Amino acid sequence: LSAEAQSMLEAHEWLSKLYHHLLKHTKEGKEGSTYLDNRGIQQETIDAFQLGFAPDKDNFTASFLEKKGFHLQTMVKAGLLTNHQEQKFKDSFRGRVIFPIRNHQGKTVAFGGRIVSDGEPKYLNSPETDLFHKGNMFYNFDLARNHIRKTGEAILFEGYMDVITAYQAGIQNGIASLGTSLTEKQARLLRRYVDQVVICYDADPAGLEATKKAANILQNAGCYVKIAKLKQGMDPDDYIKEYGSESFRNHVIGASVTYMSFQLDYLKKDYNLQVESERMQYIEKALDEIATIQKPFERDHYLKELGERFDISKEAMQQEIAYRRRKFEKYKDNQQPERHTNIRKNVNT
Ligand code: UTP
Ligand code: MN
Ligand code: MN
Ligand code: MN
Ligand code: MN
Repeated sequence: LSAEAQSMLEAHEWLSKLYHHLLKHTKEGKEGSTYLDNRGIQQETIDAFQLGFAPDKDNFTASFLEKKGFHLQTMVKAGLLTNHQEQKFKDSFRGRVIFPIRNHQGKTVAFGGRIVSDGEPKYLNSPETDLFHKGNMFYNFDLARNHIRKTGEAILFEGYMDVITAYQAGIQNGIASLGTSLTEKQARLLRRYVDQVVICYDADPAGLEATKKAANILQNAGCYVKIAKLKQGMDPDDYIKEYGSESFRNHVIGASVTYMSFQLDYLKKDYNLQVESERMQYIEKALDEIATIQKPFERDHYLKELGERFDISKEAMQQEIAYRRRKFEKYKDNQQPERHTNIRKNVNT
C-alpha cells in the first residue's frame, strides 16, 4: 500500500468509528438515527453494518481530520473533503447516513452516504482510489462470505439498503455490486465461492435491464443463475417493509426461477397474448430462446411448458427446435456469437 493509500485507510477507520458513535450517542447524529428508525433499521443492524451519520456542518470532518494530522489534499483525493477552486476544505458527506464500504478483509475503504431529506444525489459514493476499486468488490462481502460458502449461494442486490434489510429479514448471504453494473471481475470472484447466484434487483425498467446484463456475465463466468421476482415497481427493501421477512424469504428468494424461465416470461411484455397474431410472434421468440439451450432435457422441459401453455403439440414444437438448431450449426463456423444457457460450464477454480 502506498503511503497515501495507507493514510486514506486510517482516515476511514477513524471516521467510520466517529460517525457510528455520533449516530448512536449524540444529538448531532439524531437526524440519522431518526431516519434509520423510520426505515425500520434496528440497533443490532446498525452495529453489524457500522452505520453512521456525518453531521450537517461544512467543516466538521475537515477540522477533525486536520486535528488528527491528515494531509487534507489527500482527503480530497479520497473523496472525504472538497475544496472547489482552492476554497476552504468542506465535508463531502455532510448530512448523510454513512454506509461504510468494507473490503474483503473487513477494512473500511470507502463510504456510501444517503441524504436524509430530499436532495441530490440520493447517494454519494467515494470515488475510485488506490484503496477502493468498485469493480473488484462487493458491498458486505466480508460479512456474507462464510454464509455464501456454507450455502453455496449468493444473493445479489442493487442497493445498500436492500442488503441491510434482507439481513434483518434473515438473509445473511446478501451482497451488492456497488451502484455500477456487475463486472466480469466481480463474477469471477463470486464463482470461486458459489455455484449459484440469485439476482434480486429492483423490479423497475433499470433493474430488469441490469438483471439481464448481470445474468449473462454471471453465466459466462460459470455461475448458475436464478432470478427473484418482486412485485412491479418494488425493491427488496420496499417488499420487506410491505409484506414482512417471512414472505420475502419464502415468496421472493425461495421462489426464484431459472434465468430461462425469467426470460420467457419477460418476453411476454412485448405482446398482447390475447391477440392470435401476437401470440404466434411470442411463440416464435420463445422458441428462439429455447433453441439456445444446450442440454436436451432442459430444452424439453421448457418446450413442454410452452406447449402446454399454448396448446401446441410436442411434435410441432420439436420440429421448430430442430430447424432452429440446424441453423445454429450452419452458422457456428461463421463466428455465430455463443448463446448462453442455464447450464454452467466447467470452470477451473
Ligand atoms: P436505488 O435508487 O434503487 O436506491 O439505487 P435504493 O437502494 O433503493 O435506496 P433507498 O431505498 O431509496 O434508500 C440502488 C443503488 O444504486 C446506487 C446506490 O449504491 C444504491 O444503493 N445509487 C443510487 C447511487 O450510487 N447514487 C444514487 O444517487 C442512487
Ligand atoms: Mn457499534
Ligand atoms: Mn434501483
Ligand atoms: Mn432500490
Ligand atoms: Mn430502496
